[in-house]
Amino acid sequence: MDVIAEHDRMKDVAHPLRIAGISRPADVTFSFAGTSLSAPEGENLAAALIACGIRRLGEGQDAARPRAALCMMGVCQQCLLRVDGRLVQACLVPVRAGMVVTAT
Ligand code: FES
Repeated sequence: MDVIAEHDRMKDVAHPLRIAGISRPADVTFSFAGTSLSAPEGENLAAALIACGIRRLGEGQDAARPRAALCMMGVCQQCLLRVDGRLVQACLVPVRAGMVVTAT
């Protein structure tokens, strides 16, 4: 399933990874692979993408095994993305309004 279709499928679903009843900063808008997404400002980018229904972050050496956030603590390098042109680990970067995120 492509990124856009997966996001469209999940956008109206309350994500079970976001605990209900917790006060969060207001949502801000950012883009991933040309798709506009929203997430609470400051949430880590990898978690925000997962909550938006996006798990496939890029292609691996083997097309049958795409990259996805794995460790969520900056160790595995599986979440590498470009944010505003800079290569970063998505699990270590907070969501900011207007950030432009692309696959590597
Ligand atoms: S998920 Fe492992 S480095 Fe980000």
